Amino acid sequence: MYLVTVLGNLLIILVVFSDSHLHTPMYFFLSNLSFADICFTSTMVPKMIMDIQRNSRVISYVGCLTQMSLFLMFACMDDMLLSVMAYDRFVAICHPLHYPVIMNPRHCGFLIVLSFLFSILDCQLHNLTVLQFMYFKDVLISNFFCEPAQLLNLVCSDNFFSNIFKYIAGVLFGFFPVSVIFLSYYKIIYSVLRIPSPGGKFKAFSTCGSHLSAVCLFYGTSSGVYFGSAISQSPRNCLIASIIYTLVTPMLNPFIYSLRNKNIKRSLSRFHSRKLKS
Ligand SMILES: *[C@@H]1O[C@H](CO)[C@@H](O)[C@H](O)[C@H]1NC(C)=O
Repeated sequence: MYLVTVLGNLLIILVVFSDSHLHTPMYFFLSNLSFADICFTSTMVPKMIMDIQRNSRVISYVGCLTQMSLFLMFACMDDMLLSVMAYDRFVAICHPLHYPVIMNPRHCGFLIVLSFLFSILDCQLHNLTVLQFMYFKDVLISNFFCEPAQLLNLVCSDNFFSNIFKYIAGVLFGFFPVSVIFLSYYKIIYSVLRIPSPGGKFKAFSTCGSHLSAVCLFYGTSSGVYFGSAISQSPRNCLIASIIYTLVTPMLNPFIYSLRNKNIKRSLSRFHSRKLKS
């Protein structure tokens, strides 16, 4: 699964960079998302594979903190990029004439840098909290990687503080991106419904098909994990949920784009035929 994730996402990046038809903000954001997905799975899967090989499940304190920071950073980056992509679709559909001006390369770069800074802020906040309460040694985490929520529970002996922190972080880094996505799609649906011809409606919706599937997959699995773990407290269910969230979602992303997206499919076949000729 790890290999499929890395190769699939690399293929998306390669196709976007090699085909000049795909040199548009939407596909650049898509390739950034693929890049974030590769990094996201790489924060834990190689370590897990090594652990299985060596039959040991130990991680150092520094290693654990590093893993948590990188995990949070790339998860947050995924989240932010999905919002940026929603905004991109909103501008493309609701203000098509201003699109080249609003989404100029400098502005796109700015949005990417902003997402990156926001992700760094998220992981630093978590780090500060965990470091402030570091007094644990030889503790057990019932997961295959240093999950932020479990670490927070460990270090904050009174669950009150850790819950407060989780809610603040959740509002800041969860609610904000989700509301951008909802607002963008609200506006998109509103303006698409005003298009008189059914063909035009379909065309407008089809340009956001790949983004919508990515959003559904990401938020579907993560909210499933969240509510699932709220209902059942068993470590086994939590583990299965984590595997789905960390392994299956990034693996499915490239399939969704390439299966649903006509432009990517066209470039893939062009790519393939070029390789056959040479
Ligand atoms: C990410 O997006 C920026 C701005 O659109 C683009 O210049 C860059 O090449 C992209 N990076 C990757 C790895 O796709």
